[in-house]
Amino acid sequence: MSKFTLALVAGTSAAVGAAASAAVYSFGGRKKPDENPQTIISPVATRTGPTAPYPVPIHAADGRVPTIPPVDPSGIYQYGFPGPVNDLRPASSLVSCFDRARRNPQWVAEHITPASLLKREGDRRHSVFTEDDSIPEKFRAKLKDYFRSGYDRGHQVPAADAKWSQAAMNSTFALSNMCPQVGDGFNRDYWAHFEDFCRRLTSFYPSVRIVTGPLYLPKRDPVDGKWRVSYEVIGHPPNVAVPTHFYKVILAEDGKTGGNVSLGAFVLPNAVISNNKDLKDFEVPMEAIERASGLEFAGLLPPARKKRLCQEVSCSIIVKEYQERQKTMMSPPPVKGNVSGPTAVART
Ligand SMILES: *[C@@H]1O[C@H](CO)[C@@H](O)[C@H](O)[C@H]1NC(C)=O
Ligand SMILES: *[C@@H]1O[C@H](CO)[C@@H](O)[C@H](O)[C@H]1NC(C)=O
Ligand SMILES: *[C@@H]1O[C@H](CO)[C@@H](O)[C@H](O)[C@H]1NC(C)=O
Repeated sequence: MSKFTLALVAGTSAAVGAAASAAVYSFGGRKKPDENPQTIISPVATRTGPTAPYPVPIHAADGRVPTIPPVDPSGIYQYGFPGPVNDLRPASSLVSCFDRARRNPQWVAEHITPASLLKREGDRRHSVFTEDDSIPEKFRAKLKDYFRSGYDRGHQVPAADAKWSQAAMNSTFALSNMCPQVGDGFNRDYWAHFEDFCRRLTSFYPSVRIVTGPLYLPKRDPVDGKWRVSYEVIGHPPNVAVPTHFYKVILAEDGKTGGNVSLGAFVLPNAVISNNKDLKDFEVPMEAIERASGLEFAGLLPPARKKRLCQEVSCSIIVKEYQERQKTMMSPPPVKGNVSGPTAVART
């Protein structure tokens, strides 16, 4: 690994839990400037008519004949821009971008506040899972792909974060907000406790934004030592990729205009995780998620306004059984360094 490596990799150990997600990162040098400044190709720059078959060279002032390229690669646009298309989905409960090749979202962003969580007008018993018609049929995740796959249709924005209206809750049930997730021991357990942790943050921060999505991390082959990405694909024919990991990037706002934002970044393996695992074991540098996903979070946030979430609150889960969770009101994560802080679980 080079001096500049900051990579997320899947653990080599067969053991799951923290061992199955590992961040390999090292600092110690100045970063090289970006060698390839981004070239923007407009998909609308399509040609409308044929070009002259024999372009006439124009003599420049210095008498040299500029080279006329003998080919026109961007002529392909006359037949259509190949993509990628991100299928931006603005819904009342979330905004998201879709990964057409893997039939999963790339990221799903939500916003929760103390008031949004207090309002209880949606009930998940009145919502049904739906295919997302806004995505072209050939790229869509299908209900039948999940059927008997052994995986849960795992909400990226949890239904419980959109109880403020039935329509908002319904909008979390589109399959474009789902990824195949291990059910027992993950989606219904540790991941749910993690989602509960995010909700409890609203006891400290008046406004919390959470970006959630899948990762497909490389894993070192114990035989030849090479790194490979391997993931299952569910459906007949195979259609929806099963992510190896999931990330959450948390942006907890102090509620002031231009105020501070507390950032937390976590990566969890899509696997059974023991409730005894410390949530902090899954905390990673945000840049590691950015490098693994190709996405960028909070690029516009000045460093002076950044704070570290887990330095302000205790990043830990409270384990509650499903039935208990339904009855439980939010209890805030204890304030960092205050052992007598509020840890008790209030009941409705
Ligand atoms: C929510 O979804 C259910 C099931 O499709 C539907 O019957 C109901 O009308 C929807 N509610 C709202 C408010 O959109
Ligand atoms: C942001 O945090 C810094 C300390 O890290 C503090 O000095 C500053 O007052 C905070 N800004 C606001 C708007 O609260
Ligand atoms: C610590 O927590 C207790 C109990 O909630 C509270 O009364 C006290 O003000 C807190 N102290 C600090 C320094 O936050």
